[in-house]
Parts: sequence; structure tokens; C-alpha cells
Amino acid sequence: MTATVAITLRVNGRLRSIEVAPHRTLLDVLRDDIRLTGAKECCLVGECGACTVIVDGRTVDSCLVLAVEVDGGEVTTAEGLARDGTLTPLQQAFLDEGAVQCGFCIPGQVVSAHALLAENPDPTLEEIQEGLAGNLCRCGCYWQISDAVIAAARNDAR
Ligand code: FES
Repeated sequence: MTATVAITLRVNGRLRSIEVAPHRTLLDVLRDDIRLTGAKECCLVGECGACTVIVDGRTVDSCLVLAVEVDGGEVTTAEGLARDGTLTPLQQAFLDEGAVQCGFCIPGQVVSAHALLAENPDPTLEEIQEGLAGNLCRCGCYWQISDAVIAAARNDAR
């Protein structure tokens, strides 16, 4: 039996104390233990960005981070962006601009865009493309995604 380690995370503002095996990733713990499935399990090697979450203000591929590394940290997932069931203006812009096709990559895209706008509220197209370069979209909705981020920025919205 694998020994476990007690860790505490603040996830979307809520304190979570859990026992985890040292080899388990943050993605595993978010999806399987905390039951937040916004971060998607896809390539598992840091290539696609579907598992993107924010840890202490920085985006990470949660498939590449061990849960124990985040002990004491603050984690924001796609589920933590909306407030009281109301989409953020950025999330709404994704819908309005038709940026969502199959939807699989969208939680990661929105989390990365949210972090980008927090750091740079008025990004250029090039800065958006660079900021979201780690988030792949198999449907090829890159222009619509960029348009959504531009629309949200114009409305000074995150
Ligand atoms: Fe983590 Fe692809 S599942 S980067």
C-alpha cells in the first residue's frame, strides 16, 4: 500500500484537506478526489493545455504537477471563474464569438485567457496568440477564441 501525505489546498476559494499518494498529479486530485472535472485529461505530457489551471496566480498544466507540490497553494479551475452561476464576461464572450465547438479544450482555454487578461488587460492579437499558445484546439477555433479574448478585453472584462 502506498503511503499518503496530508495536503491542504484552497481550490476555487474553498479549503480542501486531503490525503494523497505522493505520485498523484494535481489533475488526478482535482478530477477524482475533489470532483472538479473542468480540467480535462488528455495528452498527460504537457502538450495540449486541456488540463490548465491557475496555481498561485500562474497557469500550469495540472497533469505535470504533483499534488504534493501544491500543498498550501491556491488553485483556480474553470469552475471557479463564474460567480453564483453567472458566466464571467470572458466566458460569455467565448459563447458570443462562437469559440466553442466540441468544447473539450474550452475550460483550459478560458483559464489561460483569464490569467492572460489578469496580467495584461489590453493584449494585442500577437500577445493573445502567444498567451494561449499552450492550449490546443482540435476543432481549429483559434480565430474565434482570439476574437473572444479581444471582445472581453474591450469590455474590460474577465
Ligand atoms: Fe495536461 Fe495535455 S493533459 S497538457
